[in-house]
Amino acid sequence: MIGERLNNAINEQIKNELESYYIYLSMAAWLHSRSLDGMVDPETDVLAVPGTREGLFFAALANTSADHADAVLIPNPCYHVYYSATAAAGVEPVFVSATAETGFQPDYTALDPALLDRVSLAYYCTPSNPQGAIADLDQLKALIRLARKHDFTVAIDECYAEIYTEAPPPGALQAAVALGGALDNLLVFHSLSKRSSAPGLRCGFAAGDAKRIEALAVMMSTGGAGVPLPVCAAGARLWREEDHARANRACYQENFAIAERVPATASISANPAAGSSCGSRSATARRQRSSCGARPASRCCPAPICAKALAARAAQTTRKIPARLISGSR
Ligand SMILES: Cc1ncc(COP(=O)(O)O)c(C=O)c1O
Repeated sequence: MIGERLNNAINEQIKNELESYYIYLSMAAWLHSRSLDGMVDPETDVLAVPGTREGLFFAALANTSADHADAVLIPNPCYHVYYSATAAAGVEPVFVSATAETGFQPDYTALDPALLDRVSLAYYCTPSNPQGAIADLDQLKALIRLARKHDFTVAIDECYAEIYTEAPPPGALQAAVALGGALDNLLVFHSLSKRSSAPGLRCGFAAGDAKRIEALAVMMSTGGAGVPLPVCAAGARLWREEDHARANRACYQENFAIAERVPATASISANPAAGSSCGSRSATARRQRSSCGARPASRCCPAPICAKALAARAAQTTRKIPARLISGSR
């Protein structure tokens, strides 16, 4: 009787361990399917996170130090979590414009080297929310080179990587391959929220520099939750299955086509090569974009925010953003 129970308990334990290990294999296998064969070691270079929001937030806590007057680079406009994470870490946010002049991506390479030496973390989003702008391989390579030169962490949010119209957008890991294959200074974030339209599942991952993955894992296990085993089981299957992701993309195409035909939304949905998620049709989202100079072709989530909007919100609270940080790109 006791022997049987013990046996069952051991089997259950093994099953659980396999389940949580299987999700790491599935995430790595998905990356490998994107021409990244053998690039990431699922044991050291990947961390399952309960959503990229949480991973991106904890990345600021794991990669900055308020004692060293660190600065964090944030695209303007941006997904609001980059700023809230920076504020929570107690370090200086530096908003860098992502408008038509810079191809709707922030050009960190043009920043003052003295500032770059103080940067401990740079957030970057491709395809971007809210603009839907894709960084090309050269831009990603330049960004990684810059991070290595000034020794900061670059956190590349690629959670919209699977929502595209023609070719899949290049990713930062591909850029790292082109630079020789090392993962130094790099953290890349992916999610099932957009790929599988499963935001409620809370399943994503960070991949990259083993040292930085370890620091993120320590921070997340100290202040956050892991990915529960049932979610690991469901998530592993979604990372391994492409049909539903293809069907999801087709569904986006249909919705984009409908949006083109509706006068109220056509002006803000002029068919970018990749899109961020949904909900950009609200008057607020449109106002935000026009006040930031974001291109009208964007499709975005309800959450993107620009520095001016942040400042307006901050003015109603006790936290103030210095004017020099919000007036322009530098
Ligand atoms: C740019 C961007 N990054 C990250 C996230 C977070 O996604 P999740 O935490 O569901 O993976 C979102 C959600 O809307 C987003 O728009």
